[in-house]
Amino acid sequence: MINFLNSEMNRFTYKEWNAYFTCDDSRRPVIDFSEEKGLSEKEIIRIAPSIQAFQTGESSDGKHLLKVAGDFADRIGQADYRDAMQRFVKEENRHAGYLRKFMDYYQIKVGKRSYLDHIFRRLRRLGGIRCEVMVLVTAEMIALTYYDALANNTDSFALKSICRQMLRDEIPHVMFQSYTLSHFKRGKTDRIVRILLMETALFFVWLSFHQVYQAGGYGIVRYMKENLGYLRQSLILTESNSKNS
Ligand SMILES: [Fe+2]
Ligand SMILES: [Fe+2]
Repeated sequence: MINFLNSEMNRFTYKEWNAYFTCDDSRRPVIDFSEEKGLSEKEIIRIAPSIQAFQTGESSDGKHLLKVAGDFADRIGQADYRDAMQRFVKEENRHAGYLRKFMDYYQIKVGKRSYLDHIFRRLRRLGGIRCEVMVLVTAEMIALTYYDALANNTDSFALKSICRQMLRDEIPHVMFQSYTLSHFKRGKTDRIVRILLMETALFFVWLSFHQVYQAGGYGIVRYMKENLGYLRQSLILTESNSKNS
C-alpha cells in the first residue's frame, strides 16, 4: 500500500493544485507498444471487461462536476479551484485515452456504460460538490488497487506503463479531493457515509472484477485492507486540514 500522508502536496493551496494540473509534457508518457509480445486469449478475456469499465469511467466530460465546482469556487472566492478542476477532468480524459490506445491495439471494443458506472454517476449527481467529490474520491482510491493489480496481470510493457502512470496521477487526485472535502463542516455522519460508500463500492467491484485482482496478487483480505487503508489516509487528510483551516 502506498502511504501518501507525508507528501508535501497535502499542504497545497488551490493555486498550487492549479499549477500542478497545468502539467508539463514530461508527466505525460507516450505509450510504447514496440515491446509488446502479445497477450493470450485467456489474458484478454480476464482483463478486458474491467479495462472497458474503467475506460468509460475515466472518459466522463465532467459537465455536472465542473458546474458544481464552479459554483463552489465562486462561493469560496477561489477561481483557482475552477481552473484546477477543468485541468483535472482533462487529466482523467487522458487516462481514458491511454486505455483506449491499449484497447485499440488489442482490438478490445469500447465498453457500454456498466451498471457500476451508472451507480457512481447517479450518486455523484445527488448533491452538490461535496457529494460529487465524496463519490469521486471513493472511485479514485479503488483505482489505486485496481491499476496495481492490473499491472501484475500480464507481461505487457504498455499496460504496465499505463498502470504506473495511473498510480502516479491518482494519488495526487486523492489528496486533491481530500483537501476539498476539508472545506465542509463535518457532521458525525460524514465518516460513516464515506465508510459505507467505500464498503458498498468495494463489494460491487470485487463481484465484477475479482479475477483481475486475484491474478494481480490481491486476495479479498489484501483488497479490503488496502482500500480501507486508503480511505483511512483520506479521512486523516480531510480531518487534519479541517482543524487547520
Ligand atoms: Fe483517472
Ligand atoms: Fe483520478
